[in-house]
Amino acid sequence: MEKYISNIENPKVSIAPMVDKTHRHFRYFSRIMDKDMLLYTEMITAQAIIYGDLEKVLFFREEEGKVALQIAASNPEDAFKAVKLAENFNYSEINLNCGCPSDRVSGNLMGAALMSSKELVYEILCAMKEATNKPVTIKHRIGIDGTGIITDKKSKVIMEGYEDLLDFLGTISKAKPDRYTIHARTAILKGLSPKENRDIPPLDYNMVYRLKKEFDYLNIEINGGFKTLEQIKEGLKHVDAVMIGRAAYEDAYLLANLYKLDSNSENISPLSRGEIIRKYIPYVEEELENGSNVHSLVFPLQSLFHGQRGNGQYKQLLSSSAIKKETVLDTLNKIFEIMPEDVLWK
Ligand SMILES: Cc1cc2nc3c(=O)[nH]c(=O)nc-3n(C[C@H](O)[C@H](O)[C@H](O)COP(=O)(O)O)c2cc1C
Repeated sequence: MEKYISNIENPKVSIAPMVDKTHRHFRYFSRIMDKDMLLYTEMITAQAIIYGDLEKVLFFREEEGKVALQIAASNPEDAFKAVKLAENFNYSEINLNCGCPSDRVSGNLMGAALMSSKELVYEILCAMKEATNKPVTIKHRIGIDGTGIITDKKSKVIMEGYEDLLDFLGTISKAKPDRYTIHARTAILKGLSPKENRDIPPLDYNMVYRLKKEFDYLNIEINGGFKTLEQIKEGLKHVDAVMIGRAAYEDAYLLANLYKLDSNSENISPLSRGEIIRKYIPYVEEELENGSNVHSLVFPLQSLFHGQRGNGQYKQLLSSSAIKKETVLDTLNKIFEIMPEDVLWK
């Protein structure tokens, strides 16, 4: 294993890259709740950056704070070009997706399928490093089963177990990635949908914890199944950081409590849900004027009252059929009328 000690700034928590979820409105909303966490873009293919409308694909607002750009690429040339083009935007890190199991992504030898060829991952990471001075990071799985998808005889179709993970990392660590975010599940590339691939393969945190224990100089973030502050605290005992995926949009208020991970936070209280909404409404107003999609703007609010009294009514108020561009600001202000005072402001 290459002994490279990155000097990357390491937030304890990050919010995972998630297609159709972690768009810039979601990130703006999340940032209201926590100043320190690292936020990710959705996965953006290198081709979309190279051939797309750059401003549309890569634009983000300064208020979003630290944002990592995640790219998907299948070769070093595209990765290099995409990262070079992204230099015009103020992303704090660039991340390579080696974890996505979808057919479309795997079929183009991107995402988790890339893990079948450690040399190729090494070359792509080197190209990304050559294109930028920013930290370059990778998000991958603990293993893959590429049976029926990966046909190249030189590639490793099945990567399972700790030894295979070490073999993969032994090669890619030579490119000196600044952080390894490891989704603690194997990706099964044929027969399971992306959704099933986030639930069916069992979580194996121990494999990730063992890696950090044996190679403490590697900067390791764990991902998969973290839903509560207690679980995150436990994860942080073993590795450098924890990445939260679905919980960020299934129970958004969790983010307002992340500050409690800091030991000297006793005298601080979290922003109330009402305050969060108040801070978000002017943004919605502004973005509507810019022509942003009203449903994407409302999406981040959907789970803010998860588990709270009045949540049913709240969700009805924000249901997609009830949301209209012309009336959305009234609808958002109505939250203050229908939700119980203590739930809004405590
Ligand atoms: C809707 C959705 C979209 C996702 N899109 C991406 C993506 O673009 N890039 C990526 O690396 N992982 C993607 N993932 C996987 C997540 O980043 C994360 O690894 C996974 O959800 C496991 O974490 P969790 O159990 O905390 O949700 C996606 C997950 C979901 C639910």
